[in-house]
Amino acid sequence: QTDIPAVKDVVTEFPVGVAITGAEIISEHGELLNRHFASVTPGNALKWDATEPSENTFTYAQADPLIAYAKANDLAIRGHTLVWHNQTPAWVFTGADGQPMTATAEDKTLLLARLENHIRNVAAHYGTDIGVWDVVNEVIDESQSDGLRRSTWHTVTGLDYIRTAFRVAREVAPHAKLFINDYNTNVPAKRDHLFTLVQRLRAEGVPIDGVGHQVHINVNWPTIAESEAMLAKFVPLGIEQQITEMDVSIYTNESENFATPPADRLLKQAYVYRDMFALFRRYAGEITSVTLWGLADDNTWLDTFPVTRKDAPLLFDTRLQAKSAYWGVTDPA
Ligand code: XIL
Repeated sequence: QTDIPAVKDVVTEFPVGVAITGAEIISEHGELLNRHFASVTPGNALKWDATEPSENTFTYAQADPLIAYAKANDLAIRGHTLVWHNQTPAWVFTGADGQPMTATAEDKTLLLARLENHIRNVAAHYGTDIGVWDVVNEVIDESQSDGLRRSTWHTVTGLDYIRTAFRVAREVAPHAKLFINDYNTNVPAKRDHLFTLVQRLRAEGVPIDGVGHQVHINVNWPTIAESEAMLAKFVPLGIEQQITEMDVSIYTNESENFATPPADRLLKQAYVYRDMFALFRRYAGEITSVTLWGLADDNTWLDTFPVTRKDAPLLFDTRLQAKSAYWGVTDPA
């Protein structure tokens, strides 16, 4: 559809982008992407399992074509992600003795060395092409009293993996904005733990430039007030905020399963997009980009998460036609 306003021409306060996994840059998908959006995030291609599948063997076969496409089409690029507990090969967490790593000094030294080597290679490969990195992803777990996710990273190194990751990323990519990214930051306990961690690490001198809010939400949850509290919380830190992975599921619990998206859900979704983008634009002084976790409903991770069923969480439908959600963003009246 070329007869409708481009999202990027309507929302000019910050770049609006989408996650891409490959197909989004080809033919009609590529045209839709270029027409409406100003930024992209490789959805999987920069994760550890894609870039360093075995130790010290770096491959950029997945990411390079996406980055080249983004550069050729003047799209900003968000680098996602240098450190995560998922999509990370088992060798990373296997000690010199061939056993799973534990909280020993030897394993800690080895794990931090692997982390440093990984970031040095990946961040250096892209240089200034990548202006923003999600340095660490999903490190908070509000069910722990200290709020820290009990990943192998944490078990073996405590907070040092986070400190090392930001320090090395800053050194290798001094031009880049360095982000800590997480989901459910609209949940008070979660965002409070994230806030406390960011405040503490920045006080130590750890170079964190911004907080990324994933914003995987649904048509019923959370309220706009809760999302506003998510943004307001971090204002006193004086750091950037980005919306990094937004989608709005039509499902409100795991047992629902629709063959086709019900009209009332799609309408509700449009209002959620309308109200969320109105919120983001009110916080334009804080928010430096908004990314949707996909281009169109034909390719969304929610088709298999948390259960397998067809979802429809984005602005364009499976035939790449603009949904009511698109009009919620572009014609909020
Ligand atoms: C998802 C991808 O979209 C899927 O293709 C993959 O199978 C799993 O990961 N939070 C994140 C993203 O930070 O990296 C995840 O992406 C979605 C949840």
